[in-house]
This record gives sequence, C-alpha cells and structure tokens, in this order.
Amino acid sequence: MNLLTLNVSEKLSATVSQLAQTTSENLGLFESSMPLINGAYFVAAVLFIFSLIGLSKQESAESGVWYGIIGMAIALAATIANPSVTNIETILIAMVVGGLIGTWLAIKVEMTQMPELVAMLHSFVGLAAVAVGFNSFLEHQPMSGIMLNIHLVEVFLGVFIGAVTFTGSIVAFGKLRGIFSSKSLMLPHRHKMNLMAGLISIALMVYFVQQQGHMTSLLIMSGIALVFGWHLVASIGGADMPVVVSMLNSYSGWAAAAAGFLLGNDLLIVTGALVGSSGAILSYIMCKAMNRSFISVIAGGFGTNVVVSGDQDYGEHIETNAEDVADMLVNAKSVIITPGYGMAVAQAQYPVYELTRQLRDKGIKVRFGIHPVAGRLPGHMNVLLAEAKMPYDIVLEMDELNDDFPETDVVLVIGANDTVNPSAMDDPNSPIAGMPVLKVWNAKQVIGFKRSMNPGYAGVQNPLFFKDNTHMLFGDARDSVENIIKAM
Ligand code: TAP
Repeated sequence: MNLLTLNVSEKLSATVSQLAQTTSENLGLFESSMPLINGAYFVAAVLFIFSLIGLSKQESAESGVWYGIIGMAIALAATIANPSVTNIETILIAMVVGGLIGTWLAIKVEMTQMPELVAMLHSFVGLAAVAVGFNSFLEHQPMSGIMLNIHLVEVFLGVFIGAVTFTGSIVAFGKLRGIFSSKSLMLPHRHKMNLMAGLISIALMVYFVQQQGHMTSLLIMSGIALVFGWHLVASIGGADMPVVVSMLNSYSGWAAAAAGFLLGNDLLIVTGALVGSSGAILSYIMCKAMNRSFISVIAGGFGTNVVVSGDQDYGEHIETNAEDVADMLVNAKSVIITPGYGMAVAQAQYPVYELTRQLRDKGIKVRFGIHPVAGRLPGHMNVLLAEAKMPYDIVLEMDELNDDFPETDVVLVIGANDTVNPSAMDDPNSPIAGMPVLKVWNAKQVIGFKRSMNPGYAGVQNPLFFKDNTHMLFGDARDSVENIIKAM
C-alpha cells in the first residue's frame, strides 16, 4: 500500500513539475514572441496607412490595394501565431468559411451593387462589436476600481456604437437595394426622439458604471440603440444616401476600435481608428459636396424638412435619334460628357471611350464632368472611365468645368439624372434642394440618354429633360452610343 502511495505521489509530482515546466516554457514563448507579434502588427498598421494613401489617387490605387492585402495577411498570420490563442481550429474554420463567402460575393457582385455590399458588411462589423461587448462584460479578467470603470464604459460604448451601426446599415442596405423606400421617414418629433434616445443612453451608462455592471441597463440601452440606428438612417432621404453610407463606414470603424479596446488588440484599435477617421473625413467632404451640414447628418435628420412637390406639368420632351446626334457631334467644337448611374448599368464606358477617341481624332475638344455622387459609390464614374482606359486629363471634377457649359456646343448626359437636375438650384421644396449640380442646361445643346422619362434615384422628376435645348435619346445607353458611332 505504502509502495503504491509512493509510486502515485512520485508520478503526481513528476506530472506537476512537467506541467510547471511546460507552462513556464509557454510563458517564455509567449513573452519572447510578443515583440515579434507587436512588430508584425506595427508593420500591418503602416501598410494600412500606405494603402489609404495609395487609394487616394487613381494612378496609385492598385498599389494601395496590394498594401492593404499584404497588411491584412500579416495581421492574420500574427494573430494566429500568438501563443495566447488556444482555439486555433475554430479560428481557422471561421476564416475558411468567411474567406469562401467573401470570395464568392466579390466574384458575384456587380459594380452597381457595391454600396449595398459595403452597407451589409458594415452591419456585420456592428453586430460583431455588440457580441464582443457582451462577451467582455460577461467574461473578463478580475479587475476593480478605476480599471473596472474604464472597462464598463468601453463595454457600454462598444455595444452602443455597434448596435447603431448594425441596424443603421441594414436600413441603408434595404434602401440601396430598393427593399425600403428611398424617401425619408418623417416621424413626428423625430429630432426630439433622437435626443431622448441619446440622453436616456447616457443616464443608463452612468447607472451601469455606478452599479459596477448592470445587465438590465445594458440590455435596455442595446434595444434603444438598435431602434435609434434604424430611425437615424430611415429619416435620411434618397439623394443623401452616399453621405449615410460613408457615415456608417465611419461608425463601423469606431465600433471595431471599441472591440479592439475590449479584446486588448492594438492593431484592431489602430485599424478601427483609421476606418473611423477616414470615414468621418469622407462624410465631411461629401457633406460639403452635397451642401449639407455635417452635424445634422450625424443627428440623422438633414434634408428632411422638405415637401415633395406634387405632380407638376413640365410640358413635352423632344425626342431625337442616333443619326441626328452623330451629326450634331461632328459639327461641334466642344463636347462635355456627364456620366451617371445609367452608364454603369449599361456598361457603356467602352463605347463611350471609342466615341471620345473618334471625336478627339476629328479635333473636337471632349471632356468629362464628374459629379461627386454620380453613380452609387464614391468615385464610381472615375473607376468606370479608368477601366475603359480614358485619359485622366480629360476627366474633370464638377467644379473644374461647371462654368464652361455656356461655351460648350453639345453635352451628352449619359445615364445621369439627379446630378444634372436644375430643381436642386431652383426649387427650395425639392428633396435635392441645395445640392450642387452640373449646370448642363447652360450648354447650347443637351442630349439625355435614358430608357424612359422615369425619375432618378431621389425619385424626383428632372425639368432638364423638358427644356427646349434638350433632346432625349431613348434606349440602353450602350446601344445608343454604339448607334451614334455607327452613324458617324
Ligand atoms: P440617377 O439619378 O440615379 O439616375 C440614373 C438614370 O440612369 C435614371 O434616370 C435611369 O433612367 C437611367 N438609366 C438606368 N439604366 C440605364 C440604362 N441601361 N441606359 C440608359 N439609362 C439608364 O443617377 P446620377 O445622376 O448618377 O445620380 C446618382 C444618385 O444616386 C444621386 O441621387 C445620389 O445621391 C445617389 N447615390 C449616390 C451614391 C454615391 S456614393 N455615388 C450612393 C448612393 C446613392 P431610366 O430608368 O429612364 O433609364
């Protein structure tokens, strides 16, 4: 019996000492590999910054994408290599499943559906931030005093931002996809309701921290934030959606940064802050371009105090054909093309390139006027024209040629509508009132390429198409441009 006890105790002490050795080896490994992992995170963060710099110019956009890909690969490898990560199998399975879905979506999605996809991805970031927040509340290192208070504030803010981003992005997705109406939801006292939601959430946060964590407060705030996010985006009208998408982009960045604080992951904090601040800067630039107030966008209510004018009689529109347009073009000295969403739908950029080449060969001056929110995503038209190898120097911003229309012989409005709508300047009751537009009506002749007299994205009719100097060329924009080339 004694021999047996001795044997067992020997084995036990051997196991304990082996365990201690393994733990200390692991700890040693953990400590020795941390500088390497932090170094990798630093390199990834720098690559993300280079990626943003690269993406800011057409010429360097491709290298920008590569910096991003390499940075993300390094970040993933460093995270998996972290010895404190124990459940590698689960992470790898999640990565493979996520990677496959992402690849399938990226191959399948049309360029025109990109904003919808981005809105949907933002909602995932929001949901992840909510999940991380609840998880860090339920399971965290023992802490007390100021550290616990800081942790609770992080949890509360992370869940709040995540929940607002989640439902806001779902509404944005629905509006962009046409599942929900693109018109703004105008509930009575909506600004007061938004303010109340904010104030109640602040009060709940104070109570949550005072109580050193109070699940009911967290749950009530989550409900309020979900409704708040929904209402915030629902109350913003059609033509203002680009600003909403970039604003949600910014929110998703802050949600990721909050998750980074909760997980103690520096790279997630840096990346979230990069996305959050670049999204905020983009929203600010877009607000300026759309002549909207940045503060009222964040408060979720700009552009909504307008009354959509009823059915108005704009008169008759004049129709034309490809032969007449070809004739007009070859006799012109100066031509401006203002593309819009319809050019993207028709994939007309290739015949437009060919038309431009032939006109330039004839010595005709051809330029492109790009509205900041033409199409369905920032820089949409620039991407399409670059795809068709259009020379960059003839592709100009709206402000660069908006005063040149009076000296222009022919303007081809190819699948654009809201971005060339004069009511933005003339009609204070229009939902797009105040938005700067391309003043194409000042040119000698305007040709409108469309399939019907249907309105554009904002759902308002465009008086431009009824003006005496505007002729409508009906049909798919690609076919129409090809017919003009044939006629020339
Ligand atoms: P829109 O106002 O959307 O008008 C596009 C026009 O293209 C429509 O009137 C449509 O008329 C025509 N069209 C569609 N398919 C066509 C085809 N195959 N061939 C010929 N024409 C076709 O375009 P826009 O001027 O570019 O303005 C963009 C709008 O989208 C703005 O209101 C903007 O706020 C909003 N938005 C922009 C973004 C960004 S970030 N750019 C994101 C979300 C929303 P028919 O149906 O009669 O053909």
